[in-house]
Amino acid sequence: MHEDELDVVEEQHLRSLTAAEAEGDERAIEAALRPKSLDEVVGQHRVREQLGLVLEAARRRERAPDHVLLSGPPGLGKTTLAMIIAHEMSTPLRLTSGPAITHAGDLAAILSGMNDGDVLFVDEIHRMSRPAEEMLYMAMEDFRVDVVIGKGPGATAIPLEIPPFTLVGATTRAGLLPGPLRDRFGFTAHLEYYEASELDLIVHRSAGLLGVELTEEGSAEIASRSRGTPRIANRLLRRVRDYAQVRADGVVTLDIAHAALALYEVDELGLDRLDRAVLDVLCRRFGGGPVGISTLAVAVGEERETVEEVAEPFLVRNGFLARTPRGRVATAGAWRHLGLAVPTSAAMLDAEVALFED
Ligand SMILES: Nc1ncnc2c1ncn2[C@@H]1O[C@H](COP(=O)(O)OP(=O)(O)O)[C@@H](O)[C@H]1O
Ligand SMILES: [Mg+2]
Repeated sequence: MHEDELDVVEEQHLRSLTAAEAEGDERAIEAALRPKSLDEVVGQHRVREQLGLVLEAARRRERAPDHVLLSGPPGLGKTTLAMIIAHEMSTPLRLTSGPAITHAGDLAAILSGMNDGDVLFVDEIHRMSRPAEEMLYMAMEDFRVDVVIGKGPGATAIPLEIPPFTLVGATTRAGLLPGPLRDRFGFTAHLEYYEASELDLIVHRSAGLLGVELTEEGSAEIASRSRGTPRIANRLLRRVRDYAQVRADGVVTLDIAHAALALYEVDELGLDRLDRAVLDVLCRRFGGGPVGISTLAVAVGEERETVEEVAEPFLVRNGFLARTPRGRVATAGAWRHLGLAVPTSAAMLDAEVALFED
C-alpha cells in the first residue's frame, strides 16, 4: 500500500465513528436518510419556521427566494436544508463547493449555465477564492457578472446577465466570511446542536427507513451518545445495528447498544478514544494544565489540527476543557469523568470560568 493511503486508513480508524464530517461511501447512505421536506426535519424549530416563511412568501410572489446562508458545525443538517429549499421551490439544485471554485472563471461557468429560479448550493463557502468571491457579490446583488477575457492591458470585461437565482451557502465558520458576502444573504440560519430527545426522534426515523427494529431504551442510548449531531446518531445506529445482527437477533435493545458502543469505544457521554486520551494526558501527565495545544497533540500522538478541530470543541462544549491565555486546562468535570479526585486548582478554575461566563 502507498504510504499516503496508509495514513488515510489509520486516521479513519481513529476518528471515523464520532467524526461529524461524512466520509467515503457514507454519503450514499446519508442521502437515503435525509429529510426531503421541511415537515420531515426534526428539531431546529426556529430555523424551520423562519425558512418556511421565506419560501412560502417567495412562492406566492412567484419569485426566487432571497439568498440563504446556513451556518453551523458539521453534521447538523446544512446540506439537507439546501436540498429541501430546492425541493420546496420545485427547482433543480446545483451543487458545488468553495474549494472547487479556485478561479472566478469556474464560478462564471456555473452561473452562466443557470436557469431562472435555480438554487445554487455552495458548500464550505468560506473556502472560495477571493476573485470568485468578488464575482459572487455582484451576481448575488445584480444578477450580473463581468467575465474578463484576455490578460494585461488588452483584457476586456464582458458583462453577462444571469437569470434570478437563489444562492444557498453553507459554512462551518461564519466568522470567516467577509462582511460584504455575509451582508448579501437575505436570510441567515444558524443551526444549533440537537437535544437528546430530538436525536431520539431522528434515530427512530432512521431505524424505520433502514428497517431496523429498536426499543425505546436502545434508541435513547444511541441518541445520548451522539454529541448533539444527527450525522453521528445515524452512524452509531448503523454500527449498533451491525452488532445486533451479528451477535444477537437484530433488535437494538439497551443491552445491545451498551455492548456495541463499548466495543466501538464511545462512552456514555459520546466521548471517543481521542477525547478521552486528551483528557487523560491533560490530567494525569500535566496535572490538569495549562498546556499548549501542540504539546497535547504530541502527547496523544495526533495532528494538532485533529485535536484542535475535532476533540477540543466537543470537550469545551461539554465543560471538560477550558481555553485560557496560558493554555488548555482540565475542569473539575474532566477529573470526575476520568474517575479521579478533583484537585483544588481545578475546582478554583471552574469557579473562575463560571464568573467569566456570567
Ligand atoms: N433535522 C434533521 N432531521 C433529521 N435528520 C437530519 C437532520 N439534520 C441532519 N440530519 C441527518 O444527518 C445527516 C447529516 O446532515 P447534513 O445535512 O449532511 O449535515 P451538514 O451538511 O450540516 O454537515 C443527514 O444524513 C441527515 O439525514
Ligand atoms: Mg454538508
